[in-house]
Amino acid sequence: MRWARISIQLPSAAVEPAAALLLEIGCSGTEQPSDLNVVGYLPVDDRLEPALGRLNEALATFPALGLAQVRPQVAVTFVEDDNWEEAWKKHFGPVRVGRRLLVIPPWETPAPGEKRLIVRVNPGMAFGTGTHPSTQLCLAALEDAVRPGDCVVDLGTGSGILAIAAAKLGSGTVVAADIDRLALRVARQNLEDNGLLGKVLLVEADSPAAFTRVDVLVANILAHVIRAMAPSIPAALAPRGTFIGAGIAEGQEPEVIQSLTDAGLRVHRVMHQEAWVALVAFRDA
Ligand SMILES: C[S@@+](CC[C@H](N)C(=O)[O-])C[C@H]1O[C@@H](n2cnc3c(N)ncnc32)[C@H](O)[C@@H]1O
Repeated sequence: MRWARISIQLPSAAVEPAAALLLEIGCSGTEQPSDLNVVGYLPVDDRLEPALGRLNEALATFPALGLAQVRPQVAVTFVEDDNWEEAWKKHFGPVRVGRRLLVIPPWETPAPGEKRLIVRVNPGMAFGTGTHPSTQLCLAALEDAVRPGDCVVDLGTGSGILAIAAAKLGSGTVVAADIDRLALRVARQNLEDNGLLGKVLLVEADSPAAFTRVDVLVANILAHVIRAMAPSIPAALAPRGTFIGAGIAEGQEPEVIQSLTDAGLRVHRVMHQEAWVALVAFRDA
């Protein structure tokens, strides 16, 4: 069978969003040959050209979103191969995050005696594989923030990874919300793989305004989205509730901190990993 190998060169911070785009245009998995390169495959048929058009259109927005300086370059080559569908899996293995979590793809088995809490996520499906610094910062912040029985909302759940982690960390009610129905379908599958279907609520929502009395609200989206949401965050939180915001590229955090402070929240922790920042803020009693 003939496949188009679609290779995108771009800054490391943009690799995961680009991988999500490749999945959106129909690739069933992605490879990351290096920190600056992501690859997907599509069958060579009449759907290829429109799919590449959609990909190029979306990549053209990356500079405006702060994900790249210039429009990322796409190179397409053609391969005859029947085995690539399995080959990409070798790029994903277990990832230890924070002190207590282990993110693993569904085809891996945790080592015997593994003490960490297992978060199973299929990395071929949606943003939120556990490899992106923003996701890792949120996971580490959740480890510290979540208390047994807490009500946790993961706004912008993508693969569901943060909601799954919150449930494993002992939350009471967990809600996984996204504006994207495809993401919600992917999150459902990952919840099922973790035995959490029915325990974590899936909802379509685009704002903290959809929620009240939340103990921990986590949103790994983008700086400008968090800034726009900031005024509605305090009313969504319970007294002394915590907001964790991420998807913030280094340099963008002062403006996000300002918008959270203007909304009446107290930012008490600024976490950095590679070129990414996560903020932890409290609502006072
Ligand atoms: C960067 S991914 C985060 C995925 C996952 N939570 C993680 O931490 O890896 C951002 C997700 O936010 C969703 N999103 C974007 N804007 C949103 C909004 N206003 N409300 C809810 N979800 C939103 C996107 O559809 C996408 O699934």
